[in-house]
Amino acid sequence: MEELVYFNGEVKPISEVWIDIDDRGYNFADGVYEVIAIYNGTPFKMEEHFVRLLNSAQALEINFTNYHQLMADALEFMKLVNLSDFSKIYIQLTRGSEKRGHVYSDDLTPNVFMTIRSGNRYPDDFFENGCMAITITDERWPKCYIKSISLLPNILGKKKAKRAGVFEAIQIRDGYVTEGTSSNVFIVKNGEILTPYASNYILNGITRQIIVEEAKKLGLHMAERSISLTDMYSADEVFLTGTSTEVMPIIRIDDQIIGDGAVGTYTKRLFDHYRGLLPE
Ligand code: PDD
Repeated sequence: MEELVYFNGEVKPISEVWIDIDDRGYNFADGVYEVIAIYNGTPFKMEEHFVRLLNSAQALEINFTNYHQLMADALEFMKLVNLSDFSKIYIQLTRGSEKRGHVYSDDLTPNVFMTIRSGNRYPDDFFENGCMAITITDERWPKCYIKSISLLPNILGKKKAKRAGVFEAIQIRDGYVTEGTSSNVFIVKNGEILTPYASNYILNGITRQIIVEEAKKLGLHMAERSISLTDMYSADEVFLTGTSTEVMPIIRIDDQIIGDGAVGTYTKRLFDHYRGLLPE
């Protein structure tokens, strides 16, 4: 059966959906998005992702008014597709369509599409033995809290990581860690868990927020503050978080072995705890 997609209120076979060449998302990357995991038929933190979609849209003055309707549509759409044990909803909302011009009209109606596809869950081996990362200069604009579809620095960075044979590229701005190209960064040093505070220079990941909250609930020393590149290199443990990334141990960054080069106890504990929160 042909894949079904959601487009502007309707669910259709993918071959019947056409994107207008005047869509501002197509011309200017003028849009926002979300990725939501579905575990065994249950979406995880759906409301939180929709709230962030709304915040991203509002930050860019995109006319996204039917927030509750879209969430209801997503739940209906889920019933029409074959879900695997791990699927992902991709939602993209662009400002709308009009003849190309930098100045946007105020009254545009957004174009929204959603896909629900089988997700690639990372192999167990990645979580058990840890992964490697490189660092790159953070070349993004200073509004990274907006989940915009304009992702050129991120995709170039991820490709660099791929070519280097590592999992992720961790971005560094003025000597300080911001985040991965599609994940947030945590370090553990002397029993304290640290992650950069949620400034405009990072996307405040939903997984990041869960880990911060849960670490505190577990009674661990958790703080949100700046992390220098040197802090990260000399950390006892480093891990990344994200919707697909979950809690991913990083055991080497550039030429630097992190801690003793094995997956650390805090990372392992938070990974196990996070897995326990996911819908069965
Ligand atoms: N990326 N930072 C960036 C730049 C991201 O793109 C993402 C997510 C995260 C983690 O956010 P969350 O925990 O809410 O997934 C952090 C998504 C999954 C993507 O682009 O596919």
